[in-house]
Amino acid sequence: MIGVKTDIASAWLRAGNVVGIPTETVYGLAANALNERAVSKIFEVKKRPFFDPLIVHVSGFEEIERYGKNAHPLLIKLAKRFMPGPITILLEKDEAISDLVTAGSKFVALRMPMHPLTQRLMREIDFPLAAPSANPFGYVSPTTAGHVEDQLGALVPYILDGGPCRIGLESTIVGMDGDTLVVYRKGGLPIEELEKYSNKIEIKEHSISNPVSPGMLESHYAPNVPLHLCDDFSSLDYTSEKVGIISFGESSDRSYGEAKRFVLSHGNDFNEAAARLFRILRELESFDLDRAYVKLLPEIGLGRAINDRLKRAAVKKPTL
Ligand code: TXA
Ligand code: MG
Repeated sequence: MIGVKTDIASAWLRAGNVVGIPTETVYGLAANALNERAVSKIFEVKKRPFFDPLIVHVSGFEEIERYGKNAHPLLIKLAKRFMPGPITILLEKDEAISDLVTAGSKFVALRMPMHPLTQRLMREIDFPLAAPSANPFGYVSPTTAGHVEDQLGALVPYILDGGPCRIGLESTIVGMDGDTLVVYRKGGLPIEELEKYSNKIEIKEHSISNPVSPGMLESHYAPNVPLHLCDDFSSLDYTSEKVGIISFGESSDRSYGEAKRFVLSHGNDFNEAAARLFRILRELESFDLDRAYVKLLPEIGLGRAINDRLKRAAVKKPTL
């Protein structure tokens, strides 16, 4: 059931159930992070492997300090500057956080979401919320309550509807390696913002060999229509109606024949493109398409995180 009542959502959570929650990045599938049985329901509903750890969502800095230990001063600075917001920090975990949440790691991922409805919900409960994105494992993240309902509705008693997500890309995940700031996932907080605070930044590119961070798996966020990256739309064959084209803006004056067009942002705006990206990847599936093509965006600002998701969503070998 979809609704806007935080008291209903908090009652389900207190009873050890999962609830869909809005955040400014994407919708989450939340449960009491301190209740292992509740947390295990998240894995069950998402069909998520247990080796993929969950982000713990909190409402204030006291909880960041309670559940995360020995924070490097730079992470504290970033938390003070960007929380609540689209950043997640990795800190040594307090023993209250179980190994089920962190997949056995001694680090816990902590995030303070900005969405007012979820902030109100978190004030009504006295425990933090473990929450991954509310999609079946490996699929595109949800940016509306309807997306959650479509895919997980039968298994989730309540989905709190906070409208479409403002940012539309998952949080940027950071941690420290000595004095180097490591970006484990590019996301809603652009790297350029982090560069104002550190000149020693390592960005982990996506990899298939990093079992601790499956959000970094090469094939993730994949829609059911095969998506291909291309450098140049003009070399493609548009005689089939069953081809989709996703472009950043309206830039080209070329005719695309019968192809179905999807434009991320008519004004070439990165924020708008990010907010629409996952919705458009889902929309591909409501047309009878054999395949779709997309060109990467400029590698600046949110363009970097958008490109990261597109690379993972794309099929690896072109089927021309
Ligand atoms: O914006 C977001 O971060 C959304 C909203 C709902 O908060 N959440 C989200 O969660 O994207 P999820 O589970 O889909 O992606 C979280 C990523 C995963 O790739 C996971 O492996 C990584 O964070 N992660 C979580 N805890 C970790 C930990 N202790 N150490 C390393 N990576 C961790
Ligand atoms: Mg996810």
